[in-house]
Amino acid sequence: MNDQAENLRRLLDNDDRKDAKVIAVVSGKGGVGKSNVCLNFAISLSQLGKKVAIMDLDIGMANLNILMGLTPNYHLMDLLNNQLSIWDIIEEGPAGISYIAGGSGFSSFVELNEERLHKFFFQLELIGERFDYIFLDMGAGATKESIEFVMAAHDVFVVTTPEPTAITDAYSMIKFIYLRDDSKPLYLIVNRADSQVEGSRTIESFKRVALQFLKKDIEALGYIPSDPIVSKAVKAQTPFVVFDKNAKVSKAIIQLASFYIGEGKEAPTKYGQFLSKMRKMVSLRK
Ligand SMILES: Nc1ncnc2c1ncn2[C@@H]1O[C@H](COP(=O)(O)OP(=O)(O)OP(=O)(O)O)[C@@H](O)[C@H]1O
Ligand SMILES: [Mg+2]
Repeated sequence: MNDQAENLRRLLDNDDRKDAKVIAVVSGKGGVGKSNVCLNFAISLSQLGKKVAIMDLDIGMANLNILMGLTPNYHLMDLLNNQLSIWDIIEEGPAGISYIAGGSGFSSFVELNEERLHKFFFQLELIGERFDYIFLDMGAGATKESIEFVMAAHDVFVVTTPEPTAITDAYSMIKFIYLRDDSKPLYLIVNRADSQVEGSRTIESFKRVALQFLKKDIEALGYIPSDPIVSKAVKAQTPFVVFDKNAKVSKAIIQLASFYIGEGKEAPTKYGQFLSKMRKMVSLRK
C-alpha cells in the first residue's frame, strides 16, 4: 500500500463505522449537467459534515477528474490487476471528498470470472463502512454495464434541463428504471433553469406526467439555475461550489443538499443491500 493510501485509510479509520448510502446520478440525454451536479452535490454534503466518495462510472467519457483538475493514478479495474486494494485507488478530491476513477476497462466487469468478481466485491465492501454517501456518476442513458449499478443504488437522482428533448429522455429513463423496480426512490433535479418560474413549472409538469402514466410519485429535490459561473469553474477545473460559494448556482445546490439530508430524508440504509443486489444481477447475467 502506498503512503497516500495508508494515510487516507488511517484518516477514515478514525471515524466510527458508517453504512454508506449509494446514489446513482443519471440522465436520459447527455450533457445536461450530471457530472457537475454529482460533484458539487457531493462537496456540499461533505461541507455539511458527511463523509462522501464519488465514483466515475461514465465509461469511456469519464470526466469527473477533469472537473477537479485531478489525474487519477489508478482505476476501479486496477483492483483486479496488480496487488492493489481499494485504498490504493481512492484519490483525495477537493473539499474532503474521495474519488474513485471508473476507467474504460470497467465495461468488461460483468464478464469477470467468479474469483475476480469475488475480489472486486470484497474490495467494494470495504469502503461501505467508511463513507456516509457514495455517488455514482453515470453516463447518459442506460447500458448493460451501468444499469446494474443504477438498479442496486439506494437512491437515483435523475437530472434534466427544462428543454423538451431532455425532459422526454429523462422520462424514458425513469420509466426504464420503474419497470425494473417500481419502489426505487427517484429524485428529480432540474438543472439550467432560466428562472424560478421555469424551474418550478418543469418540476410540476414532470411530476404530473409521472403520476399520470406511471402512477409514480417522483420527489423533486429542486432546480438549479443557469449560471455562467459553471463554465468558468469548469475551465478553471475547480468545482463551482469551491470556485465561488456565493454564486447563485452554488447556493442552489447547497440548498438541495441540505434538503436531501433534512428531516425524514435520511432513512437508515444498508450498504450490504447495494452489494447483494449487484452480486445477484451479475450472477443472473452469466
Ligand atoms: N447550471 C448550469 N449553468 C450553466 N451551465 C451549465 C450548468 N450545468 C451544466 N452546465 C454546462 O453544461 C456542460 C456539461 O455539464 P456536465 O459535463 O456536468 O454534463 P453531463 O450530463 O455530465 O454530460 P455527459 O452526459 O457528457 O456526462 C458544462 O460544462 C457546463 O458548461
Ligand atoms: Mg458527465
